[in-house]
Order: sequence, then structure tokens, then C-alpha cells
Amino acid sequence: MAYPQIQFRNRQSEVDLYQLQELFNISAFWAKARSIEDLSIAITNSEPVISVWDGERLIGFARATSDGIYRATIWDVVIHPDYQGNGLGSKLVETVLTHPRMRWVERIYLMTTHQQEFYEKIGFQTNNSTTMVLHNQSRISSLAATEVQLQESLGG
Ligand SMILES: CC(C)(COP(=O)(O)OP(=O)(O)OC[C@H]1O[C@@H](n2cnc3c(N)ncnc32)[C@H](O)[C@@H]1OP(=O)(O)O)[C@@H](O)C(=O)NCCC(=O)NCCS
Repeated sequence: MAYPQIQFRNRQSEVDLYQLQELFNISAFWAKARSIEDLSIAITNSEPVISVWDGERLIGFARATSDGIYRATIWDVVIHPDYQGNGLGSKLVETVLTHPRMRWVERIYLMTTHQQEFYEKIGFQTNNSTTMVLHNQSRISSLAATEVQLQESLGG
């Protein structure tokens, strides 16, 4: 590998949220402009959380959510553009997959818009038939509105 000094770390607390926000703004089109507070919530509720470091510079990140046995999903895989094409992305995903929370899981999912070939090299297969999505933001807004109406009708 071209970067022998690169470190992979697996503690949630080791992630520098400000550097992560910057990394997403530079190289993750789906995760731009995320707030520090929201990033902190996402990391607290994810395991494993893997960060990649060149000294004190955060240059890669991936996280997953897992039930430890049946299903898990990998999220927010990113390597800084300066470091791409050196095997770090595949090592990052392998590090996620070999974590104790992931190792025995029956099915591991991820969503990708452009990187199918990268994930196929690791062993993932295209899976058109099972995925559905609920865009929950509008549902949350209407739930919040219902809650306000309920409180008003109860005199709260
Ligand atoms: C996708 C990403 C993490 C790959 O990281 P990387 O460090 O460049 O990948 P690697 O160097 O480990 O590549 C591993 C293999 O995949 C191939 N590969 C990487 N990106 C590829 C792509 N977009 N299309 C086809 N092959 C690709 C490499 O050529 C390499 O092949 P080889 O083993 O035959 O040499 C990185 O490009 C990235 O962060 N992109 C922007 C964010 C993003 O799209 N993340 C994925 C969200 S689902």
C-alpha cells in the first residue's frame, strides 16, 4: 500500500466530528451539510464506526448498524479524494465486515448510487428486488403537527 502510516480506528469516541463534517462535504454527495449534532447522534447509534487516519488527519470513514446476527447495513463509506485508488476503500469495508458486530451477520445491505463495481469486487451483489424506502421526514412533520393539535385540544 502507498500509505504505510495510515491507521484504522474503531472507537466511536475517536471520530473528530468537525473533520468528519468536512470530509462528507468534500466527498459524500448524500451527506453534505450535516450538522455536528446530527452526526453525533448517528455515530452514537452505530457500531462499528471505523475511521481512517493519516496522522491527525481524518481521511476515511464508514459505519454500520447491525442486530449482530440477522441483518446489518453499511452507511457513509468514504475515502478522501487525495487518498482514493490505493486500496484504502476496500480495506475500510473489510474492516467493517470483520468487526465482531458484523462477522456473523447473515445478510449485509448497503445502498449505492454509483459505486456498484467497487462493492462487487468485495463480494456484494446487486439486489433490485427487496429494497423499499420511506421518506420519513414528511411523516415526522405530520406526526409533529398531529401532536400539536392533540396538545391544543387537551389544553396543553
Ligand atoms: C468508493 C470509495 C470509498 C472507494 O475507495 P478507494 O480507496 O478509492 O477504493 P480502492 O482503492 O480500495 O479500490 C478497490 C478496488 O475497487 C476499484 N474501484 C474503486 N472505485 C471504483 C469505481 N468507482 N468503479 C469501479 N471500480 C472501482 C479499484 O480500482 C480497486 O480495484 P482493484 O482491486 O482491481 O485494483 C471512494 O472512491 C470514495 O470515497 N468515493 C466517494 C464516496 C462514495 O461514493 N462512497 C460510496 C458510497 S456508497
